[in-house]
Amino acid sequence: MDKTEQMRQIKEEVLNLKKSPLYAERVKNKVFPVIGAGSHNARIMFVGEAPGKNEAKTGQPFCGASGRVLDELLESISLKREDIYITNIVKDRPTQNRDPSPEEIEIYGPFLDRQIEIIQPQIIATLGRYSAEYIMKKFDLDFYIEPIGKMHGKVFEATASYGSVKIVPLFHPAVALYNSHTRADLKKDFAILKG
Ligand code: URA
Repeated sequence: MDKTEQMRQIKEEVLNLKKSPLYAERVKNKVFPVIGAGSHNARIMFVGEAPGKNEAKTGQPFCGASGRVLDELLESISLKREDIYITNIVKDRPTQNRDPSPEEIEIYGPFLDRQIEIIQPQIIATLGRYSAEYIMKKFDLDFYIEPIGKMHGKVFEATASYGSVKIVPLFHPAVALYNSHTRADLKKDFAILKG
């Protein structure tokens, strides 16, 4: 099965994920899950937390205010959305923009795991503390988990099924919307991702 077909399969399964506590809300509100977007052969994969209102409306990741911050950061290292792959741990919008729950992370995590296997990125850049913790645990880096304020911008070497992978925890771009220090830190950290 080629990569596009494998991603299509994931989309199909998420669309029918009735066991998710977010399923009923999605159907009721006539919104979409966000599977991910970008190149299936990307060198860098970005992992956010969960879709917000704009993302659920369009089915596209990071298309609201934090998406604009992300685009600016990508531009600062001469990357475009089509050069990278971007997704979230949780594929449906948690209501009222609350943080994803442990149960939701457990339900949607395996889809992210499969997306990593499909794309086989050399770098996984996590956006925010939830995705940092999920990815660090997945790659047996539990010992190095610290608050995001300490971990951001560090590079952790890990081993994936397909070879070595670097994990780079970053602040969530939404925080940079109202904190200029975080914005400056994010810009500095993004320079690490330059190929
Ligand atoms: N925040 C996220 O973590 N993901 C999105 O797709 C949008 C906002």
